[in-house]
Amino acid sequence: MAAQPLIIDCDPGVDDAIALFLALASTEDLDVLGITTVAGNVPLPLTQYNARRIVHLAGRTDVPVFAGCPRPMLCPPVTAEHVHGTTGLDGAILPEPTAPLQAQHAVAFLINQLTQASTPITLATLGPLTNLAVALVQCPDIAQGINRVVMMGGAMGLGNVTPSAEFNLYADPHAARVVVEAGLDLTMVGLEVTHQVVTTPERLAALAAIDTPVGRVATDLLRHYGQLDADRYGLAGSPLHDPCVIAYLLQPDLFTGRPIHLAIETDSPLCLGRTVVNPYPNADQPANATGLETAAADGIYQLLTERLAKL
Ligand code: RIB
Ligand code: CA
Repeated sequence: MAAQPLIIDCDPGVDDAIALFLALASTEDLDVLGITTVAGNVPLPLTQYNARRIVHLAGRTDVPVFAGCPRPMLCPPVTAEHVHGTTGLDGAILPEPTAPLQAQHAVAFLINQLTQASTPITLATLGPLTNLAVALVQCPDIAQGINRVVMMGGAMGLGNVTPSAEFNLYADPHAARVVVEAGLDLTMVGLEVTHQVVTTPERLAALAAIDTPVGRVATDLLRHYGQLDADRYGLAGSPLHDPCVIAYLLQPDLFTGRPIHLAIETDSPLCLGRTVVNPYPNADQPANATGLETAAADGIYQLLTERLAKL
């Protein structure tokens, strides 16, 4: 089967980096047309720089990297250096990028690609949804060029940045609402799923055994990442949020899900950015997304380890 055309929107970010390695290694399955970056885990100058370092280390400087929106649509920026470090990729040493940042704005790239697509393009969103939302507001017709959106974000229950909201959607709740209400084929990879996929010492050891520059960087990044979540939630390791999106694109059978009605809270100060999920869609609240529910963690790490060894 032909590799599916894909654009990855991200805020690297440690787990974004692992997701990018997985996607860039999967050349037979994924045709990565470009990587668009957004302010999120760390400010935009760092997310774009980190994305360029990642494509260089992966030997995939053929994939262009674009800088997008430097702040959310309305809310003040929030970041997550306490999770990813001040560089956004603390814990590992990555080489300097060789490919330049693309001059074109990420939003313009999304609009150009999606309005000219002969084959609808899949979008993997791993950060705040500002770029996609601004593209949809500027040019609603891009919806025809979108095959589907697979979004790391949200939660059926408790959030991780507030009791109500997960980071990506909390960071730009208005952007999240624009995307959710755009009538797209949307799959939500929320915290209940990603918290089933944790980097245990055994899984880390398997990645370390790859013993290549990418394997060493991935191992070093994951060794220093996510202990806060592991401790807070009593998990056996740090949750691997963003790579679940790419694993779902590669092997959807590793996951299960159900039709849901999804809405985003944009008014309540206490619940700003909350994904209000109705798992029983009905005439009043019809299904507008697929909410993933389970993940086969062993299969995901096996896929990740196999693919990263290819880089
Ligand atoms: O809540 C986890 C999400 O927020 C992940 O995408 C992580 O990289 C941060 O962007
Ligand atoms: Ca991310």
